[in-house]
Amino acid sequence: MEIEKTLFDAHRTRFAAIDRLLPEAAPPPVVGERVDAATASGVQVTGVVQRQLHGPDDVPLLWSAADVRQLFPFIGSTGTEGMDVLLRAWRTWMDAESPGEDSSCVVNWPSRDAEAIRAFLDHGLVPMSALAVRTGHHRDAAPEVPGTGVTIRRARPDDFEDVLAMAVSTHDYIGQVATRRRANAAQLLAPALERALDKDSPLLWLAERDGEIAAFAHAAWIASTPGSAEAELLPHGRWGYVNNVVTVPGLRGNGVGRSLMSVVHNELSAGGAEGTYLYYNPTNPLSSVFWHRQGYRPLWTSWEVHPASALR
Ligand SMILES: CC(C)(COP(=O)(O)OP(=O)(O)OC[C@H]1O[C@@H](n2cnc3c(N)ncnc32)[C@H](O)[C@@H]1OP(=O)(O)O)[C@@H](O)C(=O)NCCC(=O)NCCS
Repeated sequence: MEIEKTLFDAHRTRFAAIDRLLPEAAPPPVVGERVDAATASGVQVTGVVQRQLHGPDDVPLLWSAADVRQLFPFIGSTGTEGMDVLLRAWRTWMDAESPGEDSSCVVNWPSRDAEAIRAFLDHGLVPMSALAVRTGHHRDAAPEVPGTGVTIRRARPDDFEDVLAMAVSTHDYIGQVATRRRANAAQLLAPALERALDKDSPLLWLAERDGEIAAFAHAAWIASTPGSAEAELLPHGRWGYVNNVVTVPGLRGNGVGRSLMSVVHNELSAGGAEGTYLYYNPTNPLSSVFWHRQGYRPLWTSWEVHPASALR
């Protein structure tokens, strides 16, 4: 979809000024419907709305509504006012839609754009998830890990049932504090875990204490290369993606997660990761504290309202 060059140039300049870790701002999506608005002084802003529909067996249901309308805003340097008038226009656009209960309105936006946050909150959007990165000096500040009595090893194919149960327990916890819980989470999670366990050197770790599983972590390699989808979110390079981490409820708060992540971070770093990243939910009272102390900080925040009709 074409947008005015001056608006896109202002958008790029604004993104570059917000956060030095943001990659160059991506052009508007090719497919979507356009929403236009103007500030009181007549500056034009625009957005592209894309709809994504997920069936009951689609993996994105683990973190997403089934019927998503995502807005890609282009507000140049208009700040709070520009985002506010655009969200207002989107609300009017939504009046012609009839989304069901399992639906959402989503805007993924640089976490550090404080001016936009005012507008998101005023329109009923909440910070549902954030992409957080751990790079540069944060990587070197390897914290001392307390003695926790756990041993940490890579998972093997015969650990499948345990690994699946741990991954489902992360999903169940997040179901209380952020995105909705799915009854078929085990079926949705199983194929990717099976594939990961089949690899020569699976990026799955188990922490054990007294022969019992205490914690689990799953990671993957992601390349952000010029032109790739990843390059719209992350600086170019080889990244370690931390996908699912959980400690069994009775052992949380004893340093097990820290011990596990020190092994995961060291091994990803030894494998050539320039940095690591993950998605967490700012409303998760455990992980939001844990990941920040592990050296992660938000780069992108997904502002969402569920159901979509609740956009204000
Ligand atoms: C997030 C989770 C995996 C952390 O595991 P954990 O074993 O409880 O972690 P730890 O005990 O090592 O760390 C938690 C504590 O250490 C602190 N901590 C973490 N890293 C630290 C560091 N580098 N230096 C000092 N403190 C640190 C945390 O602030 C927290 O403090 P407190 O509990 O003493 O107040 C666990 O809480 C959990 O399973 N949560 C539910 C599932 C979940 O949210 N998963 C993450 C999804 S993104």
